[in-house]
Amino acid sequence: MNQKAIGVFDSGIGGLTVYQALKKKMPQEKVVYLGDTARLPYGTKSAETIIRYSEDNAFFLMGKKVKIIVIACNSSSSYALPHLQDKLDIPVIGVINPGAEAAVRGNSKIIGIIGTTATINSGTYEKTIAALNPEMDIVSQACPLFVPLVEEGWLDHQVTRMVIGEYLLPLKKKGIEKLVLGCTHYPVLKKAISGVIGEEIELIDSARTTTEKVFSILTSLGWMRNSGKRSQDEFYATDFPERFQKIGEIFLRRKLVKVQAVSF
Ligand code: DGL
Repeated sequence: MNQKAIGVFDSGIGGLTVYQALKKKMPQEKVVYLGDTARLPYGTKSAETIIRYSEDNAFFLMGKKVKIIVIACNSSSSYALPHLQDKLDIPVIGVINPGAEAAVRGNSKIIGIIGTTATINSGTYEKTIAALNPEMDIVSQACPLFVPLVEEGWLDHQVTRMVIGEYLLPLKKKGIEKLVLGCTHYPVLKKAISGVIGEEIELIDSARTTTEKVFSILTSLGWMRNSGKRSQDEFYATDFPERFQKIGEIFLRRKLVKVQAVSF
């Protein structure tokens, strides 16, 4: 198992925020990343459709002989995690639990949660946070326009700042102390979000806590790759691999190896 790769999928490039955190913590690990760009967005789709797409993605990664699958998509984690955990014989982890755990840490009483329409409608964050700390006050807001703005690369743009204000200033008025970025596209908007709502509201990005979970699973199973033996990561996209590459490089602020087209 040690030499096998970590499989990561998202509906698009947003999951690269999780990829980046994984590589920072475990640079020796090989990652196979799939962005289902042909069917993005997931955040506006039904539970059944999201589960079906997630299953296709997971089976593709299983074909690449990965040792663990990280669902680097909140919409998919909201609906498909238990299903994939039942179906697959390797560990599968999502981004919701790690995000919720980070949200309840500390003394905050009022937490904001933002995500796609699918993620917010699922109520998964609310349920997970309430199970961890029933005292917590939660204010949720779907922000469907954030994903297209990020996919357009408008990270520092007046239109993006206006949209952020529309969605998030009402949450600030309600007194939120932390804001869970419940969509893997949102961490690249951190600077713009803090610029609009203020640095005092802590932004929670589940990429780092998800990485901690992967690290502890691989360590406890003894499946960590030997350091020193590096092999190149693989990136796949179900449509427009060139566009994935271009926006992905803006996301990561570095060059990516060639992104390959795939269909299933
Ligand atoms: N990556 C998705 C998520 O975290 C957002 C993009 C989409 O709607 O597909 O929910």
